[in-house]
Amino acid sequence: MFVTGDTPMRLLRICLFGVAIGITASIAAHGEEPKPAPWRHIDQSQYVGAVKCSECHLSHYDGWKDTAHNKMIRVPVAEGPNKNILADFAIASEHRQFELKDVKWVVGSRWKQRFIGDVDGKEVVYPAQWSVKDKKWQAYEGKTDWWYPTHKDWKERSNFKLCAGCHSTGSDAYSEKWTELNISCESCHGPGKEHSAKPKIENIVNPARLSTARSMDVCLACHQSGKPPGDDYAWPVGYQPGLKLKDFWQPFVLEQGKPSTELWPNGAAHKNRVQGNTFEKSVMHASGLQCTNCHDAHGSRFQSMTIKSVESNALCLTCHGPGKDQGPNYQNISEHTHHDALSTGSHCIECHMPKTGANSVSGEARNHTFDFVSPAQTLANKSPNSCNGCHADKTPDWALTEVKKWYPKLK
Ligand code: HEC
Ligand code: HEC
Ligand code: HEC
Ligand code: HEC
Ligand code: HEC
Ligand code: HEC
Ligand code: HEC
Ligand code: HEC
Repeated sequence: MFVTGDTPMRLLRICLFGVAIGITASIAAHGEEPKPAPWRHIDQSQYVGAVKCSECHLSHYDGWKDTAHNKMIRVPVAEGPNKNILADFAIASEHRQFELKDVKWVVGSRWKQRFIGDVDGKEVVYPAQWSVKDKKWQAYEGKTDWWYPTHKDWKERSNFKLCAGCHSTGSDAYSEKWTELNISCESCHGPGKEHSAKPKIENIVNPARLSTARSMDVCLACHQSGKPPGDDYAWPVGYQPGLKLKDFWQPFVLEQGKPSTELWPNGAAHKNRVQGNTFEKSVMHASGLQCTNCHDAHGSRFQSMTIKSVESNALCLTCHGPGKDQGPNYQNISEHTHHDALSTGSHCIECHMPKTGANSVSGEARNHTFDFVSPAQTLANKSPNSCNGCHADKTPDWALTEVKKWYPKLK
């Protein structure tokens, strides 16, 4: 889906405005933001698409092809082996003002599905979503999103302005088009026309050769809650891999002690899509780790593209545990977890990445601060903790008492 060549008007815009925009406003201070600067232009003629890359990088392509990144936004298929509609349109719902025949794109498949269609000549997001976990229709009004006050009417809620930049590749504010649906190679490697014609290391972005901060930015462009300047768009307009994300995107920061849509007062994930906000606060990030230490963007055989199994603890034990540089030290893992070695209660991520965040329902998104979340946090501010997710029939007081028997100094 390529766009036409440069018009004189567009060339003028490139000359005048083709510089990164600076954002000075603090998001916390409402209503004092500067007017959005003119957007940086994306030269869509430089994008070639994943199939082109596959000519020389077949194994990367084959791995990526089956990842969630390549299944984000699709033409709806309701029957047969390629069925991608999980929602049940036979179930009536007061929230749903549309039918399957009205759906142009289906978005998502793991936690929830949202639907896009043309209404009054505009491509918009319908105000109902399907929860995969609850198998139910839910209202999708966006009431907790920062953009709600300026996008109240769903019939005006543009897929391009509010969503497309994170669900497709090469989106440009001037053409109002993307170059490719889904999160494809060039979302993370930048445009590859020159590289495909004359492959060199210098003419393609390899995140592994960027600084840790610029490399992380590639993922944070979509995996960090925040906002660009102005109220029109909800994605980092004009950002491309290799650039400094902060010039396009102001991440939401925790106001000490205050709960927000995005984060609990202790900084843990309150919703999905805050891996950036939470991981940046972690001890691991402070010591130089980044997303790709645990995730392989070209796919893996494990859930969420982790490079090793989390059920066997292999991922964490790459660097942690007996004989490794990082603790904990033990003869038997139960000394650290106080659960049977084969119990789920001995899985590192269950205590260090509890599901504190809401997605389509609460308790679906894993926290990326990697802190043990003490039951004391639940007593203080109702945040979910690392124990009661499994011990749902017990109180946080019980959990705090039990864990203090093991870790007396724990707060
Ligand atoms: C015609 C074949 C060809 C095509 C098409 C091609 N590449 Fe490459 N690519 C290469 C070769 C060859 C190298 C190694 C270059 C070298 O070592 O000098 C390379 C290297 C790379 C690297 C690693 C650079 C580094 O720092 O080591 C990345 C990333 C990459 N390609 C991504 C892509 C992407 C993304 C696309 C599609 C937009 C693409 N390539 C299309 C041949 C190709
Ligand atoms: C979600 C982001 C993302 C997507 C999508 C993506 N890559 Fe990558 N790619 C990376 C990262 C990050 C690295 C560096 C890996 C590392 O840290 O070792 C990389 C590295 C590479 C390399 C260098 C060799 C290597 O494996 O380290 C090649 C070649 C490459 N990617 C090709 C592709 C192709 C072709 C596609 C599309 C079919 C693609 N990538 C899609 C993020 C991505
Ligand atoms: C700033 C980037 C960004 C924007 C803007 C954005 N999303 Fe997403 N979205 C993501 C990421 C990243 C995820 C993956 C979930 C996670 O990281 O926790 C996601 C997840 C989803 C999912 C769940 C996918 C699944 O498999 O269950 C749906 C549905 C979705 N988004 C729809 C939308 C719609 C509709 C809009 C516009 C109103 C939108 N998103 C705007 C980045 C974004
Ligand atoms: C252009 C936006 C974009 C970029 C860049 C991006 N992601 Fe994503 N990511 C998404 C969206 C959207 C989803 C949800 C896909 C779905 O559920 O279908 C997602 C899903 C994921 C998932 C969950 C996969 C699963 O199997 O459910 C992981 C892990 C992930 N991304 C890691 C990364 C990492 C690591 C990087 C950087 C190397 C990265 N992403 C870059 C948008 C992006
Ligand atoms: C690539 C190596 C690596 C991997 C993989 C890794 N870690 Fe770490 N981890 C570190 C390093 C390095 C530190 C920082 C230690 C320091 O600076 O004190 C750390 C710190 C931590 C801390 C904080 C310890 C403290 O003193 O506060 C926790 C908790 C933690 N990691 C849990 C995990 C979990 C859970 C996993 C698996 C999901 C994991 N780590 C995977 C390298 C790794
Ligand atoms: C049943 C819950 C639970 C499980 C499972 C668990 N931990 Fe912990 N972990 C804790 C608690 C509680 C602390 C102490 C936290 C504090 O003091 O704030 C801790 C502390 C740590 C620390 C920092 C202190 C130290 O001893 O170095 C690291 C690193 C760590 N855990 C890694 C892991 C790894 C790796 C695994 C999996 C092999 C794991 N944990 C499994 C509960 C757990
Ligand atoms: C120390 C390892 C580690 C690091 C670093 C890390 N993750 Fe994860 N991530 C995990 C594990 C483990 C899971 C859960 C895997 C599972 O469910 O089996 C996960 C899950 C996810 C998911 C799926 C959503 C969910 O709630 O389960 C996304 C998206 C994601 N990570 C993105 C990122 C991004 C973006 C970064 C960098 C900002 C990052 N991760 C850094 C280990 C890590
Ligand atoms: C991933 C799920 C999971 C998590 C997280 C978890 N547990 Fe457990 N816990 C279990 C299971 C399963 C058992 C049953 C015995 C076993 O397998 O060890 C158990 C048993 C126990 C027992 C002994 C039996 C009982 O019910 O009295 C105590 C005490 C306990 N857990 C406390 C905790 C505390 C405190 C935490 C938080 C630090 C915690 N658990 C986190 C799954 C979990």
